[in-house]
Amino acid sequence: MKTNAKIEFGDFQTPMALAREVSTLLVQRGVNADAVLEPTCGMGAFLVAAGEAFPKARLLGWDINPDYVAQTKTALTEAGVAKRASVGQQDFFAHDWETELADIRGSLLVMGNLPWVTNATVSGMNGSNLPAKENFQGFRGIAALTGKSNFDISEWMLIRLLIALRGRTAAIAMLCKTATARKLLRFAWQNDGRIASASLHRIDAKKHFGASVDACLLLARTGKAGPVEAGVFDELTARRRSTTLGLAGQDLVADIHAYRRLKHLEGLCPYQWRSGVKHDCASVMELRQTAGEPLRNKLGEDVRIESDYLFPLLKCSDLANGRIEPERFVLVTQRRVGEDTKIISKTAPRTWRYLDSHRHLFDARKSSIYSKRVPFALFGIGDYSFAPWKVAVSGLHRTPRFALVGLVGGKPVLFDDTCYFLPFENENEARVVAEILNSKICRQFLASLTFTDSKRPFTVELLQRLNIRAIAGEAGYADDWAASRNRDAHYPEQSLSLQPEFVMERPALKT
Ligand SMILES: C[S@@+](CC[C@H](N)C(=O)[O-])C[C@H]1O[C@@H](n2cnc3c(N)ncnc32)[C@H](O)[C@@H]1O
Repeated sequence: MKTNAKIEFGDFQTPMALAREVSTLLVQRGVNADAVLEPTCGMGAFLVAAGEAFPKARLLGWDINPDYVAQTKTALTEAGVAKRASVGQQDFFAHDWETELADIRGSLLVMGNLPWVTNATVSGMNGSNLPAKENFQGFRGIAALTGKSNFDISEWMLIRLLIALRGRTAAIAMLCKTATARKLLRFAWQNDGRIASASLHRIDAKKHFGASVDACLLLARTGKAGPVEAGVFDELTARRRSTTLGLAGQDLVADIHAYRRLKHLEGLCPYQWRSGVKHDCASVMELRQTAGEPLRNKLGEDVRIESDYLFPLLKCSDLANGRIEPERFVLVTQRRVGEDTKIISKTAPRTWRYLDSHRHLFDARKSSIYSKRVPFALFGIGDYSFAPWKVAVSGLHRTPRFALVGLVGGKPVLFDDTCYFLPFENENEARVVAEILNSKICRQFLASLTFTDSKRPFTVELLQRLNIRAIAGEAGYADDWAASRNRDAHYPEQSLSLQPEFVMERPALKT
């Protein structure tokens, strides 16, 4: 098990073999180095590997941990490169990077592997390994990043280094989460970060670090602005890129070339995508029933309540696997956000007693959105939740599969908040829209937009970018769709004045 210090300092030491593989790749890709800087050098694997790969380079390393500094010095001595090395103890957050970088002459390579921890984890353990608040102010944009409730420390550090490097010709070669690499590139591309070229080379983080996370080597050259795109390579040894990500407007897209071919399919979706119901109390609110048995909650309790507030429920794994016969029910305490729930005590007294007997679990819901709300409050609920027909998709799965879902037992089916859906009054329109969304051209367009290693590849913002009219035309459904449309449906359609914010992963910073 990891100790607290290991967690707080994001301590995943790079194995020597991986550091060597990275150095070999850098040499192959023509990186020169008169000086190599490892800002958080740990036990020194990267400095030793760089010492071998760049036989004349000065080797500069820092780490907050004095034991690691000592170990790095020993490793460099054993490797016979100590004479050209300088290693010391330093807190990254307190270091004057501008002065240090200004003193380094010749071609510079900033290389390594920054701490793998988020600010929320450090704060949650009352740790102090965080940038001091006053340090944010001077740096354009960094304050906005730290305003987010959760960010990767390595993202902050990478941006900090990029700012210190602004205008200087250098190479950055850092192991990091692929999501962090993308955020850094988006920051640079949107904020005059002067990245001349960039590429991502995936690594197997499970094999090298025992971590289940999508990670890569981010290689970027700084000094002048280049194209806002980066090749993605499936492994360090891959010679050919598998795709090219890039900036399209305010967003990154996963395959910029496919996106450019298909971007006429982007636009304002004529429907409003919705997310499923949010209750954050699954143990009480989600119930199952096996034939002849009473309903049972996730606490293992038999639940005997009225059926008035019970609705069939589908979750993201159901949708992703094509299971549209609900096996669960959800207790729906409101028909719209903010509605008073007290009425349940009169209309369904057993349901009220059941809810009331678990009130402590509702009160313990962490999200602040529930504070000062009526008891047993929900979010993601409205008229649209009760539409008879829906087209729904999982937000969490890599491959989108749009399911047509109708009434079950005379009741509308609800989804949990890992799912997104469009509500419809009539079956025909829902059926045609599902076919349009499942068409090959739509899937290709979605694939060009989405990063399948994101926690939530599909979001309302992304789905709202689908120009169903244009996709219907291209997929051969234009007439069917036009004929199916029920313009009297009372679920508000997207008003053209409502420009959705085209953001897939929100930019780390907006300046
Ligand atoms: C993911 S490990 C990588 C170590 C080394 N770069 C490597 O690749 O093996 C992160 C390192 O960052 C160091 N570290 C964490 N917080 C730091 C800080 N505020 N200042 C300097 N070093 C820090 C840790 O001690 C640890 O050695």
